[in-house]
Amino acid sequence: MVLANRNLVTIDDLSNAEIEAVFSLADEMSDAMDEQFGICQGKIMASLFFEPSTRTRLSFEAAMHRLGGRVISAVDIGATSLAKGESIADMARVVGSYADIIVIRHPWEGAAKVVADYAGIPVINAGDGSHEHPTQTLCDLYTIKKERQTIKGLKIALWGDLKHGRTAHSLTYALARFGATILFRPGPGLEIPEYVISKLNTEYDGELTRYEALDQTAKGGIFPLNAIYITPSSPHQLAMMPDISIQVELKTGVDAIYITRLQKERLPTTAKEQELKEDYPVVDKKLLSKKEFKKTLVMHPLPRVDELAYELDADPRSMYFKQAAQGVPVRMALTALLLGTKEISIPREEAAPFPKREYPTYRRDFGVRCSNPKCVAIQETETKYIKPEFQIVNDQPLTLRCAYCEHEVQPQYIASSDWHEGRLENKKYHSADSHWVRKIKSENLIIFDSESEAEAHGFKPSCYVRGRR
Ligand code: NCD
Repeated sequence: MVLANRNLVTIDDLSNAEIEAVFSLADEMSDAMDEQFGICQGKIMASLFFEPSTRTRLSFEAAMHRLGGRVISAVDIGATSLAKGESIADMARVVGSYADIIVIRHPWEGAAKVVADYAGIPVINAGDGSHEHPTQTLCDLYTIKKERQTIKGLKIALWGDLKHGRTAHSLTYALARFGATILFRPGPGLEIPEYVISKLNTEYDGELTRYEALDQTAKGGIFPLNAIYITPSSPHQLAMMPDISIQVELKTGVDAIYITRLQKERLPTTAKEQELKEDYPVVDKKLLSKKEFKKTLVMHPLPRVDELAYELDADPRSMYFKQAAQGVPVRMALTALLLGTKEISIPREEAAPFPKREYPTYRRDFGVRCSNPKCVAIQETETKYIKPEFQIVNDQPLTLRCAYCEHEVQPQYIASSDWHEGRLENKKYHSADSHWVRKIKSENLIIFDSESEAEAHGFKPSCYVRGRR
């Protein structure tokens, strides 16, 4: 297995063994920082940051400089031709002809995939809207591994804005894959999105157990949890036991708390920021004085606002500045591996804990579209060339996962492009929950958002349309 010429768009683009390989090269590089100069001599990194960034951008650029490469950058959409209505694909093709590797941060979910599809050179996702931020996850895992040697079996609590926080999404997938137990403690209304939970279920056989009742104990000052995710790789007594056992279990300690800020720039205009802030979790000295947090690592991707007290900065459990500092060796290792200027042997995994699932693809330029308003695939400048594309992850109920932003839709109507005997009177659409969903071959499947859309394409309702049977 080699990493050269690959992309890192989602954390699932790297296997567990590949992540470990990046870490061992990062170790090697950080032990001999001054000897790395020249590894990427003659190479150019394009650093495209169309959202604010301090750590990610500067650590990528520092990494490239330390490897002896050069950096070209664009940091403001308003200063690029995207502001003139240029598509992401055109920008990617052009930048791909100037540089050897692209690092991109963009507010649209799935934007990094589009860049990867068109650039022709390796592309690293440095954050695409609320979707993913895989290199932050590499820094997070690297930090945990350095402190605890392993990730398997650890209990890691994710706190804060789990809805919009892309670092929390990538980290959730990675922790599940490495066999950690994840304890979610979202701010009110900021729960981890359904599509993330669904992916945990389908890809990692995970199970989410909700413990709403614990909210009451929270008032008594005990660990305020309202959901728990248990990985199957470490079958867990909590899965079977009532709420009270969580408190018992937590007494053995939480290995890390990963807190994130309220992502106020991603809130809908109708959101009441002040209300969201009121019950937002805070990590401070008082919390850490409880015995379940005695040995807890305090983690944060930064920047912090009010959710992480400055009084903890000198506490040996605080890891957040280490996470940021480790961004340089981790990104040096990743950059050199993707550019192929460094190779490392990656042991073939005997049995990957969660082998990649293959799903049938649904791709048509009409019919169902992604319903996520932030998805790149539905933006005006991009619909001229992007065809809606989904993985069919389930047929009962029919569930499609957007290939760009991974949000799921459960459309109601289906038809076949190969209608019976090609006779117009047989050109019918059906309810997606009828037996037709299994009968129509996936290459012939047409999926509609609404009856009016099916009818606009010349299909008539069959007797298998709900309400018409
Ligand atoms: C994070 C991000 O941009 O998603 N920052 C980072 O890259 N370290 C977290 C955040 O902005 O809250």
